[in-house]
Amino acid sequence: MLQINNLTKTFYAGTANEKLAMDHLSLQVEKGEFVTLIGSNGAGKSTLFNLIAGSILPDGGSVVLDGEEITFLPEYRRAKQIGRIFQDPMKGTAPSMTVAENMALSYQRTSGRKLGFGISKKERSLFAEKLRTLGLGLEERLDAPIGLLSGGQRQAVALLMCTMAAPKLLLLDEHTAALDPATAEKVQQLTEEIVRQGQITTLMITHNISSALRMGTRTLMLDAGRIVMDLQGSQREQMTVPKLLERFGQGLDNDRFLLTREQPNVPSNDQN
Ligand SMILES: Nc1ncnc2c1ncn2[C@@H]1O[C@H](COP(=O)(O)OP(=O)(O)OP(=O)(O)O)[C@@H](O)[C@H]1O
Ligand SMILES: [Mg+2]
Repeated sequence: MLQINNLTKTFYAGTANEKLAMDHLSLQVEKGEFVTLIGSNGAGKSTLFNLIAGSILPDGGSVVLDGEEITFLPEYRRAKQIGRIFQDPMKGTAPSMTVAENMALSYQRTSGRKLGFGISKKERSLFAEKLRTLGLGLEERLDAPIGLLSGGQRQAVALLMCTMAAPKLLLLDEHTAALDPATAEKVQQLTEEIVRQGQITTLMITHNISSALRMGTRTLMLDAGRIVMDLQGSQREQMTVPKLLERFGQGLDNDRFLLTREQPNVPSNDQN
């Protein structure tokens, strides 16, 4: 489904600040795989997502999605195929527009269907039906400005929005990191349900190692723009947080990791 070959990106090339953020990274992800990504601050996780989504372009290498080379395709032309959610619940939705309007916009963009002006009864009931599956009572709040929802509610709606039209790939960049522990847990469960039901090929970045090992089917660790660990199957089942820290302590040595080691989703002040 996703083939990445020798992807390379250097920021500020030729200056004192030169930074090799992606170092000839290659990766193949099969259809329906749910891959979790860990690695210390600055390891290149978000850069990898930016390169896949087309927010930045690589210096070398290629990205192929479902047989189509998209390496240099403009970001807006990939948006239909790639859903993306960020850490900040304020990103990705338009705060002053209502829940229904936000859903209509994203539905239009991803399904290619023109809803025209206004939202029909049929679409409203489709959105309400989708919202009901979240179990958060949001189907009653179709006409509320989305900016009035809590962070967790917004992330849940964002998840629905970018999976309604079954994207080929879902990119989650620490999408639960800014939520309180209980809400983060709820959004993680929703994520697993939505991904499983839609059989959506998913990459999820998290600083929470136990979530990374528990969720999904495969875990990658990035360091200095390279993959330094790729775990799946029984190898992954046998991996534990202490074992991983013992083996890769160096590559994981940052405050957020240590804070979240024992207790998932402890909020930290160091959320960049
Ligand atoms: N647009 C950019 N311009 C310049 N440098 C960048 C840019 N994006 C990322 N970098 C640099 O590339 C490196 C990798 O950054 P990246 O954001 O991919 O790390 P990350 O693994 O997502 O880290 P974090 O866990 O802190 O989110 C860092 O040194 C970062 O400063
Ligand atoms: Mg990042």
